[in-house]
Amino acid sequence: MKTILKLESVSLSYHTKDGEVPALKNVSFEVKSGEFVSVIGPSGCGKTSILSLIAGLIKPDEGRIVFNEKEVKKPDKAIGYMLQRDELFPWRTIEQNVFLPLEISKNKDASRKKEVLSLLDKYGLKDFKRSYPQQLSGGMRQRAALIRTLSTSPDLLLLDEPFSALDYQTRLAVCDDVYSIIKNENKTAVLVTHDISEAIATSDKIIALTKRPSSILDIHVTETDKTLSPLKRREDANFGKTFEILWRELNDEN
Ligand SMILES: Nc1ncnc2c1ncn2[C@@H]1O[C@H](COP(=O)(O)OP(=O)(O)O)[C@@H](O)[C@H]1O
Ligand SMILES: [Mg+2]
Repeated sequence: MKTILKLESVSLSYHTKDGEVPALKNVSFEVKSGEFVSVIGPSGCGKTSILSLIAGLIKPDEGRIVFNEKEVKKPDKAIGYMLQRDELFPWRTIEQNVFLPLEISKNKDASRKKEVLSLLDKYGLKDFKRSYPQQLSGGMRQRAALIRTLSTSPDLLLLDEPFSALDYQTRLAVCDDVYSIIKNENKTAVLVTHDISEAIATSDKIIALTKRPSSILDIHVTETDKTLSPLKRREDANFGKTFEILWRELNDEN
């Protein structure tokens, strides 16, 4: 598999009126095409910052980020960013919401619009195209938000704690949904989470971070059965083992 994304010795500080806040220190990792990778670490350690760097929204002080063999210098439409809250506009219908990125990028391609509509059909939102976000369940909204992120057909998806606003039960189901859409559409994903179980259930590889200023604590390759859904993988014998290792590692460190 080809490497799609590379962080090379990335360091980042925020410059605030009270001085410099070091966030990331010498962070390096790779993501291969088709991989599902999680970034895990304590609150405030710099997880969102890593996604913002990959998305080209901020620049590192040192090191570089390479996506599809080119250094990231500005946002690239081949990288889709899905935020924690679904951020669907309440005054727009689901259809109008998922078309928004195409409107913004002035993409008038009718075939692209048709493909986006077919994603809504395919992933259970066929009868909700003309509905408003508040008429949908939390899980459906999250699916719509993912389809909106997919509308510009990115290769790489960045997901920032996409399930954290949902209650536990819903969260397990939505995680399965989102995971299967990402796999079906052959996308590469980087998921930020502070939930160890979620990381193990979804990922091929887990990047564990230290507390701030964050560096890499460990890069863990999971050994659960990847043909299973995230929910089913929680029952895998290797799941508990990996959980224990990561739990101990993160606790010892933080
Ligand atoms: N725009 C900013 N200005 C100043 N400090 C920031 C800014 N964004 C994040 N930080 C600080 O950088 C650190 C890492 O933030 P963040 O990447 O959001 O962490 P996480 O997503 O892991 O919770 C935190 O201490 C946060 O307060
Ligand atoms: Mg964050």
